[in-house]
Amino acid sequence: MDEKYVHFNGYLLPKETHSAESLKYAAEFQVHDDDVFAVTYPKSGTTWMQEILPPILNGGDLTPVRTIPNWDRVPWLEETRAALVLGDRPSPRAMVSHLPYHLMPPSFYTSKAKVIYVTRNPKDIAVSSFHFHKMASFLDDPGTFDEFLDKFLSGQVLFGKWTDHVKSWRNTDIEDRILYVTYEEMVQDLKGALLKMARFLGRELSPEVLEKVASHCQFSNMKTNAMSNYSLVPQDIMDSSKSPFLRKGTTGDWRSHFSPEQDARFSAVIKKEMEGAVFEFPWDD
Ligand code: A3P
Repeated sequence: MDEKYVHFNGYLLPKETHSAESLKYAAEFQVHDDDVFAVTYPKSGTTWMQEILPPILNGGDLTPVRTIPNWDRVPWLEETRAALVLGDRPSPRAMVSHLPYHLMPPSFYTSKAKVIYVTRNPKDIAVSSFHFHKMASFLDDPGTFDEFLDKFLSGQVLFGKWTDHVKSWRNTDIEDRILYVTYEEMVQDLKGALLKMARFLGRELSPEVLEKVASHCQFSNMKTNAMSNYSLVPQDIMDSSKSPFLRKGTTGDWRSHFSPEQDARFSAVIKKEMEGAVFEFPWDD
């Protein structure tokens, strides 16, 4: 199992996208006051944020999302492409990250950089992650869905337990520098979510620009954007015939995967681990 992964502070991260050098780069990264981070636990809407942030920050210009692959357009701070593309990038720089709060680079905490933290119903994350493990050859085979749920709940997946990640980003002392958004509210009312994010980032979106950006960032459009749908990745690394990366883009797909017993088991663990957390569960169950 380990040959596919790099060890990092108790996490196993895929070698395909992470290295000792990339993690050192992230740890030493000099954060600027006008940097913008979208932070997520994997499968919570990271690729969506890589589509959303550039036009919000640049006044609605869709050129970057049409011409630059998502991983270079809004790179992961901790992944190997960061050092290659962030070096001479002009401000404001947009990045994504899956790092928990306490593993952000030291300069982040003293900066004024802003963070949009996107959460998603963990049941839908588990389903999305299960299918991702099937199609990505750089990840371990997930086993059966039931086996994968155990791995997910015990944190034997990328970036550990969902509950720890969410709690780490809820217990910060960066107050007005962080905006919490749910994947579900983005599905329900993308324009409202875009306006909320733009306001937080100090940007105005005219009604025309808002319409254009929301339309571009819809699931159906992103699915056909080669710069965002991972079709540029060779099939032996990501096999979309097993499961497309942009798979369903819906809420509540867990209902077609979980048995009543799995639902009860999953809910019990999550509920217990979130007890006392500064986090109101926005999902029905
Ligand atoms: P599903 O597998 O449930 O379809 P990440 O980018 O963090 O890895 O998350 C991937 C998930 O976000 C996938 O979920 C993907 O389809 C979904 N997603 C990406 N873009 C989306 C969009 N525009 N609208 C809705 N869901 C989107």
